[in-house]
Amino acid sequence: MITDAQNNFILAVPKAELHLHIEGSFEPELLFKIAERNGISLKYKTVGKLRNAYQFNNLQEFLDIYYEGANVLLYEQDFYDLTLAYLEKCREQNVVHAEVFFDPQTHTQRGVSFETVVNGIQKALDKANKEWGITSCLIPNFLRHLSEDEAIKTFKEALQFRELFIGFGLDSSEKGNPPAKFERVFKMVHDEGFLSVAHAGEEGSAQNVWDSLHLLKVARIDHGVRSVDDELLLDELARIQVPLTVCPLSNLKLKVVQQMKELPLRTLLEKNILVTINSDDPAYFGGYVNENYKAITEAFDLTTDELRILAKNSFKASFMGETEKEKWIKRINEIE
Ligand code: ADE
Ligand code: ZN
Repeated sequence: MITDAQNNFILAVPKAELHLHIEGSFEPELLFKIAERNGISLKYKTVGKLRNAYQFNNLQEFLDIYYEGANVLLYEQDFYDLTLAYLEKCREQNVVHAEVFFDPQTHTQRGVSFETVVNGIQKALDKANKEWGITSCLIPNFLRHLSEDEAIKTFKEALQFRELFIGFGLDSSEKGNPPAKFERVFKMVHDEGFLSVAHAGEEGSAQNVWDSLHLLKVARIDHGVRSVDDELLLDELARIQVPLTVCPLSNLKLKVVQQMKELPLRTLLEKNILVTINSDDPAYFGGYVNENYKAITEAFDLTTDELRILAKNSFKASFMGETEKEKWIKRINEIE
């Protein structure tokens, strides 16, 4: 249980979300609605049965269901509805800035055009900015279970829409697909003036975090919790202040940790590593940003000042401009 004071603070504090796969925000109810209007029949016949299937022993078991869910997304309207539903959650939860991942290859491989995907997502981001003041940026992720040549092809296609993207990322199955496999495409990403991020140290080793820093030259590490296996790496992350976008409910659901208390959150905070709290794939893992904050508050009995640090970190670690960052940090300092 968490106290009313902790609960109220979590809701009241402005937050940025830096690790969110838009396809992972696909709630079963919306999935069924879109499947029906697109004439697609689903393996699970009810919303309840689909939700019941969300029991995972590892990352791959989740990815199999997640890619299957994404198959019902065909038209611009589908991507728009999906994105707007996520942004409505942001509005409810006081997430004022979102850096949204999407997996272009999951869609282009099925014959859905890059343009359809980005138009639908971007129109929803624009609406949320205009109507609710939510700021955002968009980060296409390369699927690491596919080849680097496929990633390069995707990157070249993405350049048609270059003004929509702040950077590129790397996700999907970490085991067997090390950062070194994507060195060339990440160099192309930087040569074209983009930032980069990569999933590393989720199921894979601390070495993948080192290699993402040195070979891929990423500005942030997604997850990175296995960094605790390597003292030198922790020192380095503290020194260079490359953020970790940690996703507590995801780590629990995918059995990266067996209990929330095992998450190395206190170690990361004590070492002064720029750790942030995010939802990853909220429709599949049992909660959005605030539920993640609540879960760690319960597990670690965090004080409001510790929660304040995490909320401030979410802006410090974001890709927004310095003036904007300072504005939000000042506001967070003023919250009782
Ligand atoms: N794609 C969506 N969620 C992911 C995760 N947690 N790890 C790797 N790839 C993902
Ligand atoms: Zn992720």
